[in-house]
Amino acid sequence: MRLFLAHLLLVLLLLISSTTCLDNGLARTPPMGWMSWTAFYCETDCNKHPDGCINEDLYKAMADQIVIDGYNLVGYKSVHIDDCWSEMERDANGVLVANKTRFPSGMKKLAKYMHRLGLNFGIYEDYGTKTCAGYPGSYKHEKVDAETFAAWDVDYLKLDGCNIDEDLMPIGYPLMGKELNATGRPIMYSCSWPAYLINHPEKVDYNVIGKHCNTWRNFDDINSSWKSIVSIISYYDKNQDKHIPTHGPGKWHDPDMLVIGNKGITDAMAISQFTIW
Ligand SMILES: *[C@@H]1O[C@H](CO)[C@@H](O)[C@H](O)[C@H]1NC(C)=O
Ligand SMILES: *[C@@H]1O[C@H](CO)[C@@H](O)[C@H](O)[C@H]1NC(C)=O
Ligand SMILES: *[C@@H]1O[C@H](CO)[C@@H](O)[C@H](O)[C@H]1NC(C)=O
Repeated sequence: MRLFLAHLLLVLLLLISSTTCLDNGLARTPPMGWMSWTAFYCETDCNKHPDGCINEDLYKAMADQIVIDGYNLVGYKSVHIDDCWSEMERDANGVLVANKTRFPSGMKKLAKYMHRLGLNFGIYEDYGTKTCAGYPGSYKHEKVDAETFAAWDVDYLKLDGCNIDEDLMPIGYPLMGKELNATGRPIMYSCSWPAYLINHPEKVDYNVIGKHCNTWRNFDDINSSWKSIVSIISYYDKNQDKHIPTHGPGKWHDPDMLVIGNKGITDAMAISQFTIW
């Protein structure tokens, strides 16, 4: 009888964990790669900025550079598109479409390009009705978007949190996690969930967030200034007691991008940021 109870308990525990955990086996160490935002933001004018606009050539060039310089050999294994990649409207079936002038080969081909170089391919969406820059968001399109990303062979999704009621976040972020899991493709899942609750820390439970996301932004967007770097360092300093027990393999706090190499960042600032991150 006791054995039976123990067995039942184990089954129950397994059931609970399988229905509440992300459990995709990814991000055993903190994910590292290259992301475009703080260098190129939402620059979509490719006539004016042919070498610095959000298009497929930019991501291919960065992927090439990662391999040429050997960053991949020390762990920087992914290239991430940020906001402003899609067309302003979904297609007739509600499917997201990459901007056809800036991504003429399409996302699946771009993913293939990364994979041939041994790199992972990351994409950006937003849980709200629109992304932060006003492109179509995933709200009420979670399933089709997860399926689209899986069909494009995406390896990583950054899901931002603009244009949605903060009280919906505990519903929306787990829902997208569930839809990603349902595609059968392991897709690393980065949530901006707590970063939108900075003013309501009582609503942030990292033990819950860690069950649904591989990594999450805690705090403000970084930018290429010392003030920004210091504000993030100070935030992490103050919140260590809350952060340390709630991270580990598969679930990481994300202090946002390294801005090393950007205009305005001196060597001393770069060394400081790199050391603390
Ligand atoms: C989906 O979740 C189940 C149960 O947690 C897990 O075993 C499986 O590996 C996950 N699949 C993907 C593709 O993430
Ligand atoms: C695609 O991007 C270009 C800017 O590079 C923009 O002019 C065009 O309107 C975009 N197309 C759609 C359908 O959003
Ligand atoms: C950069 O971040 C700092 C600190 O959060 C903020 O005060 C400043 O306004 C930001 N600058 C820009 C250009 O967004």
